[in-house]
Amino acid sequence: MTPALGVCYYPEHWPESQWAEDAARMAEIGLSWVRIGEFAWSRMEPRPGQFDWGWLDRAIDTLGAAGLRVVLGTPTATPPRWMLERHPDMLAYDAEGRVRGFGSRRHYCFSHRGYRAESARIVTALAERYGRNPHVQAWQTDNEYGCHDTVLSYSPAAEAAFRDWLAQKYQSPEALNRAWGNVFWSMDYDEFSQIGLPNLTVTEANPAHVMDFRRFASDEVKAFNKIQTDILRRHSTAPISHNYMGRITEFDHFATGQDLDIATWDAYPLGFLSDRLEVSDDHRRRFARQGDPDFQAFHHDLYRAVGRGRWWIMEQQPGPVNWAPHNPDPLPGMARLWAAEAFAHGAEAVCYFRWRQAPFAQEQMHAGLLRPDSAPAPAYHEAAGLAAELAQMGEIKLQPARVALVFDYASAWAWQTQPQGRGFDYFRLVFHAYKGLRKLGLSVDILPPDTADLDGYALVLAPGLATISAPLMAAFAAFKGVALIGPRSNAKTVDFATPVPLPPNLPGLAAVVARVESLPADLPVALREGGHFEIWREKCETEIAPEEETLDGWPALLTAGGISYLAGWPDEVALQRILTKLCARAGVGTETLPEGLRRRETQSHVLWVNYNAESVEYQGINLPAAGVLWQEK
Ligand code: GAL
Repeated sequence: MTPALGVCYYPEHWPESQWAEDAARMAEIGLSWVRIGEFAWSRMEPRPGQFDWGWLDRAIDTLGAAGLRVVLGTPTATPPRWMLERHPDMLAYDAEGRVRGFGSRRHYCFSHRGYRAESARIVTALAERYGRNPHVQAWQTDNEYGCHDTVLSYSPAAEAAFRDWLAQKYQSPEALNRAWGNVFWSMDYDEFSQIGLPNLTVTEANPAHVMDFRRFASDEVKAFNKIQTDILRRHSTAPISHNYMGRITEFDHFATGQDLDIATWDAYPLGFLSDRLEVSDDHRRRFARQGDPDFQAFHHDLYRAVGRGRWWIMEQQPGPVNWAPHNPDPLPGMARLWAAEAFAHGAEAVCYFRWRQAPFAQEQMHAGLLRPDSAPAPAYHEAAGLAAELAQMGEIKLQPARVALVFDYASAWAWQTQPQGRGFDYFRLVFHAYKGLRKLGLSVDILPPDTADLDGYALVLAPGLATISAPLMAAFAAFKGVALIGPRSNAKTVDFATPVPLPPNLPGLAAVVARVESLPADLPVALREGGHFEIWREKCETEIAPEEETLDGWPALLTAGGISYLAGWPDEVALQRILTKLCARAGVGTETLPEGLRRRETQSHVLWVNYNAESVEYQGINLPAAGVLWQEK
């Protein structure tokens, strides 16, 4: 696939007289895709049942006539105000029981049956009208499921749907009581209709109850999305996508992804570094105008897995955003670097958000490729330059990585439900491991938690999996390479109970976790070989001679055959040592890259990416600040 650039555009925000010039300028700088429509319901259907397609017909024609390919969004993230007259009870409730009102976006509860029917109605109308339009060459469902904390709703609609979900899953209240362990604190239920949502309890709710609510909420997103994809497929053969986000684990993206053709995600590297990463102040300062050197790559690899190989960036930060605690200006070169990096990870397209900065409403302070006065903003020129480079480059062919990392949404819910120590966060643990691999110069594939075949990989990491699925366990048993599992792995049954025999129950590794402890920041535990366990560690009972140990004599790394178990959360020193050792054992070459420099291999090239604000010299290569280099292999 030859990679392409695109942009997000809102024709309904601008006078019609401006559209043709906008389209011509997009085409002129080499953009191919334009995403439209995802918030325009009030203009598509100004009054219930009265559609106004004229403007959208003309917008699509104008964009198409300029040679642009349209991604058409379904507008269900922004139901118009009149919808609330029809369905006053369609709004979501927060965990405090407060209604989340109209006046911004995503004001709906996934479980509301009336709103699902309205969504099906507008998607049907849109698909009937544009399903065969030659310019509409891809679809997007809704917009950013889960944005603004909208997956978990504690509404009456959610409660009713949750009860049905439980009744289907357990068939009888007795079975549910047994699975949840409701005998503890006399929490037994006689009827499904007695079961509430796990908010507003006196103290913590039963974790099994919370976990089922999390699974239910995730299933609701999948079901909501599938209603749309089923309709779109009846009317169109264009591929269907959804735009996911960074570090959002509230629903199982792999499950939703099964009903889509392409996974896309919205990459705002500076916003993410400012507001959703556990990093030192130094790191935040050093990369404030570039973004964390691994956060984007992690999501590229994750969404490549979610999209079963097909993925895009649907929204790429072009300049300062408006929503993070601080919103610095990216260094010159970053709008190009971020997109180039995505292409090296297999992105089919990168679309900048947005074409022109809006002079009104919520996102006035969010940059676009154009300023509000239509003059080019810096990213406009970078996008144009990159489009020209891509045209020279041709196809980028991916190469499967030798190292893989398992990612599991349900484990994120599990450890949020029962962290056992402040700071224990599943995403943080997995991302820490990912960073460790990238610092060693490695390209990584991410795998879903039900992966049944690890063939072809030399090293597979699976940190923090609450429950190891049967297929993955069988794959580990058959695996010829090196696996690093742990900490806190296979530590819960599917019913969120502690398994007996005790964890980790791994093939060929005779050890049990007899004790765990969580560690405050000022209580790290030193390892004999150097570095520390922090946040979490486990005491394993075993006959196996440990490969590594803590200074106070607890086994730290146990190995039997190709399987190693890590009995704690390693700091960077310990992690890099252990990874280097296991890579050597697996026959995977490593190098220690200078800070902020990363590499990614494709079939024909190594892409060198310099996230630093200064130039870097490494192995005879000189990379300018915020620069990239495609080196032929
Ligand atoms: C995304 C969203 C866009 C826009 C953007 C601003 O989360 O999908 O509509 O709000 O953020 O950065």
